[in-house]
Amino acid sequence: MITPGEAHEPRGAQEWQRYYALRWQILRAPWQIAGPQRESDDDSSTHRMLSAPGGAALAVGRLHRVNEDTGQIRFMAVAAGEQRKGYGTLLLHSLETAARELGLHWLMLQAREQAVPFYQRHGYEVREKTFLLFDEIQHYLMRKQLRR
Ligand SMILES: CC(C)(COP(=O)(O)OP(=O)(O)OC[C@H]1O[C@@H](n2cnc3c(N)ncnc32)[C@H](O)[C@@H]1OP(=O)(O)O)[C@@H](O)C(=O)NCCC(=O)NCCS
Repeated sequence: MITPGEAHEPRGAQEWQRYYALRWQILRAPWQIAGPQRESDDDSSTHRMLSAPGGAALAVGRLHRVNEDTGQIRFMAVAAGEQRKGYGTLLLHSLETAARELGLHWLMLQAREQAVPFYQRHGYEVREKTFLLFDEIQHYLMRKQLRR
């Protein structure tokens, strides 16, 4: 049984490798996209993951500060076959806790259309329809005010 406290920053080279590999596998590989696994602002972001007892990455996601009171959630990805089991929720709650600890009051994100109901379930509101990724994935700008 995975619990919220088990959402953690990747520890050691092997966990970091699993973290970035899952992110790539879920959010990039299906579209056969070439490019780096890591983003230029990964080093200055807050990362969380959930791991299975054997060490496999179950869910990953990150948070970065956009301005003084707003953060952005990006690259939320739950392993295929592990979705709709509550792992995304545990991860999002952990990132929201990290945001509060950073003193942030708002969180925003660009949600893939299929993920909009997930974020709505957690209190995020759609602000506007935004960009089309890889010519087919519609995104929506969403935001949420963090309660203390
Ligand atoms: C979107 C994602 C992060 C959600 O994580 P998850 O672990 O699957 O979601 P949870 O099990 O925590 O879902 C909690 C609730 O959110 C809602 N929800 C989640 N996914 C949903 C979906 N595809 N459609 C409708 N509602 C959804 C449901 O209310 C769900 O509760 P329920 O399963 O009891 O009905 C995950 O499915 C994922 O990685 N998807 C593929 C990649 C992706 O789209 N990432 C987001 C990029 S913006």
